Amino acid sequence: MKIGDITLKNPVVLAPMAGVCNPAFRLIAKEFGAGLVCAEMVSDKGILYENERSLKMLYVDEREKPLSLQIFGGERESLVAAAKYVDKHTNADIIDINMGCPVPKITKCDAGAKWLLDPDKIYEMVAATVDAVQKPVTVKMRVGWDEDHIYAVKNAQAVERAGGAAVAVHGRTRVQMYEGTANWDIIKEVKQNVSIPVIGNGDISTPQEAKECLEKYCVDGVMIGRAALGNPWMLYRTVQYLETGEILPEPNAREKMNICMLHMDRLIELKGEDVAVREMRKHAAWYLKGLPKTGSVRNEVNQMTTRDDMGKLLFNYVEQVEEIQQKIS
Ligand SMILES: Cc1cc2nc3c(=O)[nH]c(=O)nc-3n(C[C@H](O)[C@H](O)[C@H](O)COP(=O)(O)O)c2cc1C
Repeated sequence: MKIGDITLKNPVVLAPMAGVCNPAFRLIAKEFGAGLVCAEMVSDKGILYENERSLKMLYVDEREKPLSLQIFGGERESLVAAAKYVDKHTNADIIDINMGCPVPKITKCDAGAKWLLDPDKIYEMVAATVDAVQKPVTVKMRVGWDEDHIYAVKNAQAVERAGGAAVAVHGRTRVQMYEGTANWDIIKEVKQNVSIPVIGNGDISTPQEAKECLEKYCVDGVMIGRAALGNPWMLYRTVQYLETGEILPEPNAREKMNICMLHMDRLIELKGEDVAVREMRKHAAWYLKGLPKTGSVRNEVNQMTTRDDMGKLLFNYVEQVEEIQQKIS
């Protein structure tokens, strides 16, 4: 797949996820083979007011590339200005505009999924952004606002006409939030009605499902979000399955905790131990998901405040699991 002049080595894309897709996790996703990694959304106003936290979110490690940096906002002027900033001052490869965030705090400011109600506004905004920047511009959208306002095809066509280089479509409406299931038939309809690349998104949880989505709904790429939380193997196993037809085994507890520690160490480099360890609590719980006998360790991670204590807790757990497994075998 090509997005503008950026070639992706495979069609597996890590979804943008706020509070998750910082350079620490994105680099792991890239090392696990993702063809493209997307950064968590950054506020246009935050960039324009040079808010320290927002500017830090624009940092891209060379090893993560190709990478897509996502901005959100509700007004054309500030979004275009933020896009210009990202274009000039970051080494991201792609500028993505968020038109899917369903959170009221965001939609109240006409940002995120609110765009989905007005294809003309989408056209104007994307055209103005494309005019103002050098990097390819893409849009990530939901299929519509609610059941009665599903303008996915019109909206994607507006992006295409405006010079957008690709669209990623999450098969839910704004009203659905994360409930119900993603409607891939609408994603297919989008694909049939535009000629820019379409990346399908929503509910892919196994390599087999990823392949099925690529084949059945004819999308150019598959975007994987929640299934990759604490589980970058999902990306690796999907890439392998698409390339060789082989389903690789799931990682064991030790392999998972080794990557969890790498993730934590990278996050500490970025944010310092205090903040990073607190953030890692949720990641640790995700890394533990699917492993046996995690009841108490999943509670205990929430009390951890230092890297070493977190490490001790996780590897004590690994040893317990390995002991049980040795006894059984
Ligand atoms: C924790 C979390 C944070 C998210 N943050 C963003 C975001 O910053 N930008 C965005 O476009 N979508 C965001 N999303 C939506 C995902 O990119 C994706 O569209 C959604 O999770 C559906 O894909 P999945 O079923 O593979 O998880 C977020 C989702 C989650 C679970």
